[in-house]
Amino acid sequence: MPAPQPTLLATAPDASPASSPLAQHVLQGLSRQPRALSSMYFYDEVGSQLFQQIMALPEYYPTRTEFGLLTQHRQAISQALTPADGQPFHLLELGAGDGLKTKILLRELLDRNTRFTYAPVDISPSAVEGLATSLRTELPTLQVQPLVAEYTTALAELHGQPGRKAVLFLGSTIGNFPPAERQQFLGALAAQLGPDDRLLIGFDLRKGPRQIRAAYDDAQGVTAAFNLNLLTRINRELGADFDLAAWEHFADYDPQTGAMRSFLVSNRAQTVHIAALERTFAFEAWEAIHTENSFKFTPPQIEALAAAAGLRVQQVFSDEQQWFADVLLAPLS
Ligand code: AVI
Repeated sequence: MPAPQPTLLATAPDASPASSPLAQHVLQGLSRQPRALSSMYFYDEVGSQLFQQIMALPEYYPTRTEFGLLTQHRQAISQALTPADGQPFHLLELGAGDGLKTKILLRELLDRNTRFTYAPVDISPSAVEGLATSLRTELPTLQVQPLVAEYTTALAELHGQPGRKAVLFLGSTIGNFPPAERQQFLGALAAQLGPDDRLLIGFDLRKGPRQIRAAYDDAQGVTAAFNLNLLTRINRELGADFDLAAWEHFADYDPQTGAMRSFLVSNRAQTVHIAALERTFAFEAWEAIHTENSFKFTPPQIEALAAAAGLRVQQVFSDEQQWFADVLLAPLS
């Protein structure tokens, strides 16, 4: 049987470096004060490999904690995602990555003879193709419909189609959005859900501040390399001359707001030229570029976030230490 091809919903990016989304983002982010770049640009090929290494680090607890809780609660979660009347449904996953955690649920659903189609959604064709290939080998009876698209575009596409939807947004990617964008994103997702659709979102919960900080400043320096790789990417793709020895990774956690924030700090006064932008940027000694938020949440905060998006918390699946939660949300009726 021929392999199903990913459905292409996104428009092709402009090939010119100066008008690329990265170039426009870097221009805006380095022209403002304080300076900031988005962590969404961490994930080029090297960045994605470094993130795989981060997930295996002893200090980085979120991935193994969520893996453990999905394993422990796989039956209850699979039941909660499946329509009560047994009708077939679409299981969409936003940003599926390597699918390692999702396979726990997919296996359980297949074992229960559930009728469903799995649709991993990612803007990167190679990400969804890689996952679809591994699924064809590991779970040959699974119906897979990969979608190359922005998340909300994919949901809008499926909105009009018959059949219920369960949407997975695992990991703790929701924590990477700044608060206003997080609320907006959840509202946009909720707007595409019908009354019987469900959403399962991973939230990293608040815990000891030193434990959180260590997860983003590991002893081996993998997270530092992940953060610094953003500069390597800008050097390569936009012809910049960032000197990596002049930049340091710094990560700090604010236990009052739950904000885990990462920065790239300039360790001397310097200028950086970015050829694609035809611009030179001056940095003072110890000036910082904010590069990532990884917010941590309280249960009441999750309820308030859901309510403001027109959703209610239906079930919370957590680990024994309450470090992480996969939260099942349903539209407010
Ligand atoms: C992808 N995201 C949920 C990770 C996080 O924990 O914020 C990315 C990451 N950044 C540093 N370490 C891991």
